[in-house]
Amino acid sequence: EALPADHPSHSGAIADSALLSACRGERPARTPVWFMRQAGRSLPEYRAARESTTMLESCLDPALAAELTLQPVRRYGVDAAIFYSDIMVPLKLAGVDVEIEPGVGPVLAHPVRSRDDIAALPTLTDEALTPIREAIGRVTTQLPDVPLIGFAGAPFTVASYLVEGRPNRTHPRTHELMHDDPQAWEALLEWVAEVDIAFLRAQVLAGASAVQLFDSWVGELSLVDYLVHVQPASGRVLRALGELGVPRIHFGTGTGHLLVAMRDAGADVMGVGADLTLDAANELLGGRTPLQGNIDPAVLAGSPEAVDAAVAAVLTAGGAAPAHIVNLAHGVPKDTDPDVLAHIVDLVHGAPAAVKGH
Ligand code: CP3
Repeated sequence: EALPADHPSHSGAIADSALLSACRGERPARTPVWFMRQAGRSLPEYRAARESTTMLESCLDPALAAELTLQPVRRYGVDAAIFYSDIMVPLKLAGVDVEIEPGVGPVLAHPVRSRDDIAALPTLTDEALTPIREAIGRVTTQLPDVPLIGFAGAPFTVASYLVEGRPNRTHPRTHELMHDDPQAWEALLEWVAEVDIAFLRAQVLAGASAVQLFDSWVGELSLVDYLVHVQPASGRVLRALGELGVPRIHFGTGTGHLLVAMRDAGADVMGVGADLTLDAANELLGGRTPLQGNIDPAVLAGSPEAVDAAVAAVLTAGGAAPAHIVNLAHGVPKDTDPDVLAHIVDLVHGAPAAVKGH
């Protein structure tokens, strides 16, 4: 299946961009950099634009979602936009009763815990994705030279919110369902995988040039549980997107023991959390996978010297990989000083790009 002839990824500026070159395993003239959660409360212009809307309302308003996507690109000059949305948006569009509570996170009116709950999950229609296509169209029209990354939450991480019903650090009910009723678990992950495929395809067909699958909480699983209970569903999502020919970035935190299995699920680029240095991740992956990461977000609140040292260390360690996209090891904390992120972009862009093998 081919993308339409007028898709942004066919334009020279986007195809040859530092981000897409690095995704292909090349070393572009300058190392690309963007930040997970670059849109959000750390930006005064975000707080002003979001003042009178809830999180999910802002995601479903195409003009506002486009504006919030563009804000960090304008301010920082990052090498990619990431679509302003949320991993819970496709569930909302399917008809799941979910809200995002400020300072808390996703909260469900009816957590999904039984076979009946899973069987009753609604279907995400293509028509419901209209506001997503509209928002993406607005972004790509206004941003002809910078690639837009589409994203979704991976089946495990999304399922953990569905089952727990609200944020929970250890996800006990999720583990319980996975082990006590593996068939029900498989059905739940298949449902999320279908929703993810529809959400990601809509973003790509409307103009996104790369995708990132966020499996933020999967690092808490053993390798065996990952291989048996999670990798098939993530693999289904990644393979479906591979058919569209866009690069697939796969990210989780605390995933050193899962990195190879997550790559083998069908990722082109691996995002690395704070548990590994990039040279160690590269070694685990056999030196053939482009890496994204992994400045510790905690350092952003530190001294200017500590920030500079962390950036230099990540650039050096990333020099071991076939290609490197600079990012944080997790999302931008909400109290981050935007000037620190602007400084990091300048540092990365000013640094001579590493040459593979040196
Ligand atoms: O800039 C970007 O990265 C794009 C937008 C984006 C958001 N959420 C917007 C958002 C992305 C990529 C996400 C992904 C997301 N959402 C993940 C995976 C990434 C990760 O951080 O691990 C997860 C687990 C969620 C679920 C979620 N949504 C949480 C845990 C929260 C935080 C709740 C809080 O208030 O602390 C959200 C809310 C959310 N998503 C905000 C933003 C900008 C903050 C909402 C606000 O401003 O009120």
